[in-house]
Amino acid sequence: MDADAAKRLAAQAAADLMPEEGVIGLGTGTTTRFFINEVGRLVGEGRKFSAVPTSRRSRELATSLHIPLLDDSGPWSIDVCVDGADEVSTELDLIKGGGGAQTREKIVNRHSRQNVIIVDESKLSRRLGEKRAVPVEVVVFGHRATAAALSRFGDASLRFAADDPFVTDSGNYIYDVETGPISDPVELEEEFRHLPGVIETGLFCGRADVVIVAGAGGVELWHRDGRRMPAGAR
Ligand code: A5P
Repeated sequence: MDADAAKRLAAQAAADLMPEEGVIGLGTGTTTRFFINEVGRLVGEGRKFSAVPTSRRSRELATSLHIPLLDDSGPWSIDVCVDGADEVSTELDLIKGGGGAQTREKIVNRHSRQNVIIVDESKLSRRLGEKRAVPVEVVVFGHRATAAALSRFGDASLRFAADDPFVTDSGNYIYDVETGPISDPVELEEEFRHLPGVIETGLFCGRADVVIVAGAGGVELWHRDGRRMPAGAR
């Protein structure tokens, strides 16, 4: 199965978990785009959803699908947020931010009563950091000084989009920090966040209630309490 087919299946399984109506957090990324399309289809069929997008890109897609959207300011009462991830550990901790949206994603995640993560099986690893660097969003002022402090944890590279530094929706830069396998992601997140200039990290520890994993073996729901079941089973 190719990655896009797996992402679509994970997104469809997430759509099956949605309440009859309510407020949905919309993540960012290629997997979440499949999910937003599913929500658009459900709204077209008459389901009463409104949504909080986590990026300009997700807002644009949702708008084009006529999904009613709440504004960016909050506060919101979000029933469930569905988002992707770049890496998922066996503890269901996550690295996010490959698309540069982790700060908004973390805010929406925090204000959602349930968080569902959708991934294809290529995102799975034993320990975070085995496959991906940790994206860290920093303020532009003094960013090279902040990067010097970040480099204590691994090589820290400023993210670029073509010839210029990539700028997040909130006007900041991102450094991707090559930590290698992380033994204590909670502690590492704390250490990053104590550095002046750091706004947010792509480490999401204990923030996934359900991870939907799609791959050659089918689609499975991995619950925080350790239960694993095929999609569709109740
Ligand atoms: C966006 O900044 C990210 O957190 C995405 O959720 C993550 O990178 C997964 O993206 P894909 O679904 O495109 O792999």
